Amino acid sequence: MLLKVAPAFALLNTPNSTLGENLLTYKSFSAKSGNGFMVCASKGTNHKPLTGVVFEPFEELKKEFMLVPSLPQVSLARQKYCDESEAVINEQINVEYNVSYVYHAMYAYFDRDNVALKGLAKFFKESSAEEREHAEKFMEYQNKRGGKVKLQSILMPLTEFDHVEKGDALYAMELALSLEKLTNEKLLSVHAVASRNNDVQLADFVESEFLGEQVEAIKKISEYVAQLRRVGQGHGVWHFDQMLLQEGAAA
Ligand SMILES: [Fe+2]
Ligand SMILES: [Fe+2]
Repeated sequence: MLLKVAPAFALLNTPNSTLGENLLTYKSFSAKSGNGFMVCASKGTNHKPLTGVVFEPFEELKKEFMLVPSLPQVSLARQKYCDESEAVINEQINVEYNVSYVYHAMYAYFDRDNVALKGLAKFFKESSAEEREHAEKFMEYQNKRGGKVKLQSILMPLTEFDHVEKGDALYAMELALSLEKLTNEKLLSVHAVASRNNDVQLADFVESEFLGEQVEAIKKISEYVAQLRRVGQGHGVWHFDQMLLQEGAAA
């Protein structure tokens, strides 16, 4: 990354310092010919060596890596955010979008006039929206860390969800369970990348925003699969569908 080296943190001696001994005064001013603000530290007249100083901010800020980039195409906020983390976040955005797309296809199927399972249609519509929200949450995070969102292609999902032995409701719910487990695997991969690169912030984001919720979703859909296996096809599925219509909680 190209960084513009500027004498932003020069130590200046100011003979008219009014502050007491052993104190540093800091002042900021707008550089007339420069690109923006420079922060300067001015030292008092006292030349006695300071004792007990454990942190010298302006000394540490002189290091090149702490300088603010000036190229317009480079993120200003980016700090300790490696390319691998940026790439895995973009992958996860794609995963969430793909799952959202499949759920949307399921919504369209169950909403057909000759299928008419309104509870399942509602459940998958809400689930699709929720997965898209997940994608957006990752997009926001990508921007927050100074990465660039790169959207990739989404595969065309199935249009038919009927299954000879299982019927459509159970088949779709088993598919949803597999997708949620796959999403969980992918989230754990994001976390593994964060851990490998010592990116504590990314690890915390995945843990606090996604991992717990994902386990909840897997548990809930597992229960739906178990219930659908119990009720069989036909009338039982209609009751299950009515239950979903009252409930309304997305995967
Ligand atoms: Fe998700
Ligand atoms: Fe989900």
